Amino acid sequence: MSRVFINNHPVVQHKLTILRDKNTGSKEFRELTSEVAQFLTYEFTRDLKTQDVEIDTPLSKTKGCYLNLKDIVIVPILRAGTVLAEGILKLLPTAKVGHVGVYRDHETLKPITYYVKTPPITNDTIFIVVDPMLATGGSAIEAIRLIKDRGARKISFVCIIAAPEGIKNLHKAHPSVDIYTASVDDHLDEKGYILPGLGDAGDRLFGTK
Ligand code: PRP
Ligand code: URA
Repeated sequence: MSRVFINNHPVVQHKLTILRDKNTGSKEFRELTSEVAQFLTYEFTRDLKTQDVEIDTPLSKTKGCYLNLKDIVIVPILRAGTVLAEGILKLLPTAKVGHVGVYRDHETLKPITYYVKTPPITNDTIFIVVDPMLATGGSAIEAIRLIKDRGARKISFVCIIAAPEGIKNLHKAHPSVDIYTASVDDHLDEKGYILPGLGDAGDRLFGTK
């Protein structure tokens, strides 16, 4: 069964509070989204394998280790996920990036797919699917299904805020996918928005409303 990791670090919760505030403008909203994504991914990287190496410091030889970043693929769900991906790339600069274009229909809340592109996939490829909001879970479930169809096996999901409904649905559809988030909020409203949430993440990131 998949696990949910909630990052309660005070720095993350401080940034999340500014994100939730309706008076925070797009520039700061983008910067904070990118930063929180880095913190969430930092927790995820705890389980990554390293390779032992010997190197020379200016004074002596020493043993160290390197991460194998070429096996990591970040997959932002378009469009809001791109801002998280930019942040994560600062932490994992040589990771590859795939893209899945999914939006949810405003009436039915069902996911509509319009784009999929991933780098080559091997059994070792580790996927981090990213989107600020896990609401009904429809978009994440569909994005993960699309990359699984292309051969993805090791997948985690990073979001800023998750709703209990989305966690339940994602667990059911993809039981092996762990979730890394800064908050599990209360519930969805009648329009499928997370409460208390932070509003429409895409619109706040890109100033489209
Ligand atoms: C938002 C958000 C997620 C989705 C979450 O995107 O970025 O992708 O809603 O909702 P769900 O869990 O119920 O599927 P939206 O569909 O508004 O598209 P956008 O990126 O174009 O803003
Ligand atoms: N998508 C958003 O951007 N916000 C929500 O609260 C739910 C879905």
